[in-house]
Amino acid sequence: MLVLGLETSCDETGVALYDSERGLLADALFSQIDLHRVYGGVVPELASRDHVKRLLPLIRQVLDEAGVRPAQIDGIAYTAGPGLVGALLVGASCAQALAFAWSVPALGVHHMEGHLLAPMLEEAPPQFPFVALLVSGGHTQLVRVDGIGRYQLLGESLDDAAGEAFDKTAKLIGLGYPGGPEIARLAERGTPGRFVFPRPMTDRPGLDFSFSGLKTFALNTWQQCQASGDDGEQTRCDIALAFQQAVVETLTIKCQRALRQTGLNSLVIAGGVSANRALRASLESMLARLKGRVFYARPRFCTDNGAMIAYAGCQRLLAGQHDGPEIGVRARWPMDSLPSCQA
Ligand SMILES: Nc1ncnc2c1ncn2[C@@H]1O[C@H](COP(=O)(O)OP(=O)(O)OP(=O)(O)O)[C@@H](O)[C@H]1O
Ligand SMILES: [Mg+2]
Repeated sequence: MLVLGLETSCDETGVALYDSERGLLADALFSQIDLHRVYGGVVPELASRDHVKRLLPLIRQVLDEAGVRPAQIDGIAYTAGPGLVGALLVGASCAQALAFAWSVPALGVHHMEGHLLAPMLEEAPPQFPFVALLVSGGHTQLVRVDGIGRYQLLGESLDDAAGEAFDKTAKLIGLGYPGGPEIARLAERGTPGRFVFPRPMTDRPGLDFSFSGLKTFALNTWQQCQASGDDGEQTRCDIALAFQQAVVETLTIKCQRALRQTGLNSLVIAGGVSANRALRASLESMLARLKGRVFYARPRFCTDNGAMIAYAGCQRLLAGQHDGPEIGVRARWPMDSLPSCQA
């Protein structure tokens, strides 16, 4: 089955073609980061308008690259939520219009299910069951995954998502947007041990997270340094390192707890923060101690992309699921409400 996937939930327009027999045939992405950078964050109306501009040219590009004609496509998958409603509507309307014109089914995919399944596009994909850590700009969740659509939420952030904490902290210490890659870059030059940040909610049982206090801790540290005239590049690097270490260690402790609680030893990490090298290294050494394995997608499939939507949509279309002709998107959508899927 050959599926066209469209991703427009936030500030990336992603398009891909996935074939259940041949794998990923082509994928293209346009990132709106430069458009939003001047505002220090995503401006929803600008995001929607840019998706309108980019989507059809990207679809043409992907079809050309793969040498695929529209008549060969068996279904269209698009991100139906969660995300920015205006941005989601661009992908949903385009998918439904093309599905109608090409007489194929369309299917709305859950964006976080897309992230969660992205490591399945890699050479040695994980086997069910596993624990998944979803760490993106809008979500921090630990999920037990027994199959596609068989998700049990084990814990989540009570306030800021991990990626959001990276972005906000970066802004507070005067770094660019998006903050995750900026903090990771500066942390490489940080002085270990100069600052030590707390590991929130690790001293009590449970699998929930809280990252908003870390951002305040970073701001207070930065303001104290500024007051004493110590606000140069090295101080920014030292704060970036202390912040990153706190997030990484907190995530590692909770992942270990989730693995112990479920009795599993496979961990999947997905979403933009899963591209963080310090996080990958820390989880890998924890899993090596447990004689388990950690799985993640190649860096460009950690952040938003069309390939993960095409893949997730293909699995569900193969199982006979599809939408009606109505155009419906959801800003919020609990992942554990999804139907299970036996292909
Ligand atoms: N190397 C990195 N280290 C830490 N954070 C990173 C890194 N690369 C990207 N990020 C963060 O990942 C986030 C973007 O990821 P993603 O595109 O998955 O999120 P989103 O789509 O905005 O949110 P959601 O998927 O929850 O709707 C940003 O917060 C960004 O700062
Ligand atoms: Mg995302």
